[in-house]
Amino acid sequence: MTATVGAPRIELSQVERTYGRAGAEQVHALRGVDLTIAPGEYLSVEGPSGCGKTTLLNLLGLLDAPTSGEVRWDGRSVGSRTDRERARLRLTGVGFIFQRFYLLPTLTAFENVELPMRALRTPRAERQRRATALLEEVGLGPRQRAYPHQLSGGEEQRVAVARALANRPGLLLADEPTGELDSQNATGVMELLDRVRADRDATLVVVTHNPEVAARAGRHLALLDGRISADRRGA
Ligand SMILES: Nc1ncnc2c1ncn2[C@@H]1O[C@H](COP(=O)(O)OP(=O)(O)OP(=O)(O)O)[C@@H](O)[C@H]1O
Ligand SMILES: [Mg+2]
Repeated sequence: MTATVGAPRIELSQVERTYGRAGAEQVHALRGVDLTIAPGEYLSVEGPSGCGKTTLLNLLGLLDAPTSGEVRWDGRSVGSRTDRERARLRLTGVGFIFQRFYLLPTLTAFENVELPMRALRTPRAERQRRATALLEEVGLGPRQRAYPHQLSGGEEQRVAVARALANRPGLLLADEPTGELDSQNATGVMELLDRVRADRDATLVVVTHNPEVAARAGRHLALLDGRISADRRGA
């Protein structure tokens, strides 16, 4: 059985992320971010292009490390863990949903959802049971054997959501998950994410330019030029 990892308490203190080598042209993508996210919180992140939203998500989800400052999960510095431990935490604890889906084109919907469970060596029967259940949950039960190019954009994104949920992560990170969807599909994907978050007490952080998507969250961050410019609670 795959262990279920609950949502972590995440703390960022004085986090900076600079791209490029010292001396060369550097980009200061994050310039000193302090942020605490409690387990189960629902956050939206807004801000103009280039302000650091994706950089922030990558740091929250352990896909990247800060140039300076600290990221802690449940009080423990992520930087003090080995690469292997971080990779394991990411695989078991984090579900990423990207704007452009990133499904593997040579795998069917079912195989795409199964992939993260293979990486954790989840037994075959359990993988099959869970992939089927997830695809049914996102309304794609009958399309499990379809390849990504045979699916609509909304269907592809729903496969990507199912894949992000496969290892039952406590932390869901969505980077403009509705950016390429029409309003009906966008509503469907967001309702699904909302339901999953509530059912599993997961944390959900969603980067979005869409006010209707942002309005679903209980806490709203605005980023401007690598800094948090607003942190507001309420609908
Ligand atoms: N791998 C990289 N190498 C160099 N610079 C980068 C890299 N990734 C991002 N940047 C730069 O860091 C800054 C923040 O980028 P980021 O992707 O976090 O912005 P964003 O808020 O997600 O923008 P968008 O809304 O366009 O997705 C930008 O100036 C960007 O050009
Ligand atoms: Mg981005």
